Amino acid sequence: MPAHDAHLGQPVPRVDGRAKVTGVARYPSDRPLAHPAYAFLVTSAVARGHIRAFDLQEARSVAGLLDILTYENVGSQVKPPPPPGGKGKANTTTMETARIWHAGQIIAVVLADSYESAREAAHRVKVVYEAQEPTASFGSEGAQTEALADVEEGHEDPAVGDAEGAWKHSPVRIDARYATPTQHHNPLELFTTTCLWEGERLIIHEPSQFVTGLAAGVARQLGIEPNRVRVHSEYVGGAFGSRGGLTHRTAWIAVAARRLGRPVKLVATREQGFTIATYRVETQHRVRLGASAEGHLQALVHEGWELTSRPSTYNVSGTETTARLYACPNVATRVSVVHADRSTPGFMRAPPDLPYMFALESAMDELAVALQLDPIELRRRNESERDPITGRPYTSRSLLQCFEQGAAAFGWAHRRPEPRSMRAGEWLIGLGCATAAYPSNVGAATARISLRGEQARIQIGAHDIGTGAYTAIALTAADRLRLPLSNISVELGDSDLPPAGLAAGSSHTAGICNVVARACEQILARRAQPRHAPAAGAIEVYAENLPDGAPANGIEMLYAGQMAAARGGELPGRIAYGFGAQFVEVRVHERTGEIRTPRALGAFAAGTIVNPLTARSQFIGGMIWGISAALHEATQIDARLARYHNADLAEYLVPVNADIGELEVIMVPEQDTRVNPLGVKGIGELGTVGMNAAVANAVYHATGCRVRELPIRLEKLLHAPRLQRSPHA
Ligand code: MOS
Repeated sequence: MPAHDAHLGQPVPRVDGRAKVTGVARYPSDRPLAHPAYAFLVTSAVARGHIRAFDLQEARSVAGLLDILTYENVGSQVKPPPPPGGKGKANTTTMETARIWHAGQIIAVVLADSYESAREAAHRVKVVYEAQEPTASFGSEGAQTEALADVEEGHEDPAVGDAEGAWKHSPVRIDARYATPTQHHNPLELFTTTCLWEGERLIIHEPSQFVTGLAAGVARQLGIEPNRVRVHSEYVGGAFGSRGGLTHRTAWIAVAARRLGRPVKLVATREQGFTIATYRVETQHRVRLGASAEGHLQALVHEGWELTSRPSTYNVSGTETTARLYACPNVATRVSVVHADRSTPGFMRAPPDLPYMFALESAMDELAVALQLDPIELRRRNESERDPITGRPYTSRSLLQCFEQGAAAFGWAHRRPEPRSMRAGEWLIGLGCATAAYPSNVGAATARISLRGEQARIQIGAHDIGTGAYTAIALTAADRLRLPLSNISVELGDSDLPPAGLAAGSSHTAGICNVVARACEQILARRAQPRHAPAAGAIEVYAENLPDGAPANGIEMLYAGQMAAARGGELPGRIAYGFGAQFVEVRVHERTGEIRTPRALGAFAAGTIVNPLTARSQFIGGMIWGISAALHEATQIDARLARYHNADLAEYLVPVNADIGELEVIMVPEQDTRVNPLGVKGIGELGTVGMNAAVANAVYHATGCRVRELPIRLEKLLHAPRLQRSPHA
């Protein structure tokens, strides 16, 4: 419980809320520029092959046209970026060569005095391709599968015991295949980049989850010193992973600004965002579970396949979580990547856990049905205080408390276990649940604080990607310095500030709040020294926080723009995860198959909740996205052309208010002093994990029809004979 006068743990509206709603907050593409040029991208119409020739004559005739960049004139000036987050080998290229790796790849940058001229000229660029038949997806001709253990150094598939043998001898067995589709981030703010050169220094304005990483990455691509690049990203209009890694466009806009000798602004179109940024990997799974007649797991085998680009082995390997969740003596896992003519995927909210937990938590529900056991009771019987693979204890684990409190509030006791046993008129009612789990990562971070009288100024190269970081930092400082919140000013989102790592993997709040708390302690200690009597002016401190379990050179890594975090799943001698229980009610119309979700409830335990008001928003946002992942979202690809069909917000389904009913969040109190000094576990991703499975499980309960391939759309239910059957037949 927070102390009487404490700020941490109090529900506080965002300190930047007013600036945002009044338009005072400047997003990267809002920055006023002196005499800017505008860029418009030309992207590839084919998915595989080479560019044979450009015909730029017509484009050059457009009034206001300044320049056209292609591989022919600037290709040698940029080295390709690494894959997202540096995960996996190699990446696709764009204008470095004539090669086309995927549809929608950047092949030219058109520059003009106005956006309209740039767009007009871009549409007049003619390209002659030497095109080849592309491979679109799993099962397409030319798809190449590689087991990660064979191709990626250091990759280990978690395993213990003899899972195959134990599965064969288990009295109750499940063997099922699941699939999740490609999904695309559609943050409100488009993918934008503005570059200008101040003498020898490159200034980049770009929405980013990692300003120092972006600066260092672009410097490497351009072959210049990292301190010659500065990135600004004070406000971000939605990220969810899409601004986490370096993407191709940034370096080309920097080259354009250097060639023209003036600022260049790019605002890519919504459709281009589907192919120039990253996206959620398409996955397939086979899960085998073996249990005793009493419902104790004896074997768990989880195999996953992940689609990626031709050159990259980018992967999310969610078996890191699914192998460790439940007590089970025999576990085997295997992750493979499947190469196709696609762009490289990347981070998207709970990148590993959303797809892999869909598979496991669907299979657990199938096991509960096979055992004729309540699905919550099945989780209870397989509860574990330890990671079954290594035996390390969880720093804290409140999964069962989440299920208990969630079940009570949701009214789970009123659920009749038989499928198709609950209805309201023509609507079949289904109640489903699933486990949420996400590793509690903690980022290494540095910060500078100065205190002048009663006014504190926090400077930290952190990111507020909509999560409320400004407020979390201010709350922490106010709490530790015992000052009113209004006495704290926070500066972030600038790579010239002390680095604070990557705002991803739900590691940021824990990382930045802990370093700010540490800096505040140093301030208080300094102020207590006699020579710092109140009249002595400002006290300034700089603090570093290297969380236990982070790489030993983590602070140097931060300064070099590399990820440096203590990973909850990989801590020495312990394992740290946040947990939750997702509940949802679906209603399925017995004739049309229409699916509605009138209510959902999530109960989560994630250590200290810094700000319950913004935490609730993150949890319900995650739950909505989980419902969306189950019922709405999928990027459809043309199997023949390997191009997306629905690369816009008219055809890419995202839920609207009418799709989402009541949402309830329970924050189960949890104190964990072993995860980090403030006891903060990340929550950004936890809230979305498991909800897709909870919906699928609820649809099964409503209809008796098990859908193992997301999204669950009504046509998948119409094909199921049971939907049309009268319950009395
Ligand atoms: Mo988030 S998907 O961890 O950037």
